Amino acid sequence: MYKRYLIISLLLVSIISCTEKKETTDLSALKSKGDSLIAQTFDTLRNTLLSTIGEKGFPGAVSFCNTKALSLTNTYAAEGITIKRTSDKLRNPANRPDNMEQEILSAYLQMKEDKQELKPVLKKDTEGNHHYFKPILLQAMCSNCHGDKNTQIKPDTWEAIRLQYPADAAFNYKEGDLRGIWHLTFLKNKINGPN
Ligand code: HEC
Repeated sequence: MYKRYLIISLLLVSIISCTEKKETTDLSALKSKGDSLIAQTFDTLRNTLLSTIGEKGFPGAVSFCNTKALSLTNTYAAEGITIKRTSDKLRNPANRPDNMEQEILSAYLQMKEDKQELKPVLKKDTEGNHHYFKPILLQAMCSNCHGDKNTQIKPDTWEAIRLQYPADAAFNYKEGDLRGIWHLTFLKNKINGPN
């Protein structure tokens, strides 16, 4: 009798540890997929911005810091992945954060204040979708449109921004500041991740 219990418990333990192992492997696959999609989107966005700045100058490039304009975004959507950028200080009100994003933003801002390193976050919602968040830090070239409005954003660029985004709050950032976050959603039924 005792032996049978022992065998059953051993079996249970091995089943549980097996599923746990599978879950970690799949989550790390999601993370690396998330990292490469974000890197690809950022590169495309940056290159589009840089070439438009070259052609039309900063005021003419003002409409090009927008992920929705990228055809990449549609390609991801077909795979069940959405990509969004949001911030606590917005230029475009349509990028406003939802509850989960608000939570991540507040946590990152607190970590910045405490001089901690900002690490990516992977979360699962109650419906089983996975969410991947990464910080967006301000780089030198971004200051032309998000930096000090008196010294870094040129008057003609400022005018173009004000005209298109009257409610703009995304300026006066310094290099290294938390400009916002990336948020990738992997829809449950579309990916081969854990359920
Ligand atoms: C040519 C001007 C310009 C440059 C350069 C620029 N941005 Fe933007 N940025 C904008 C505009 C305009 C928007 C609003 C886009 C939209 O309509 O979604 C924006 C929006 C954003 C948003 C989305 C949140 C929000 O405020 O609506 C983030 C995040 C962002 N920019 C980060 C950056 C980073 C990081 C860089 C540097 C790599 C950068 N930007 C460079 C003009 C610029």
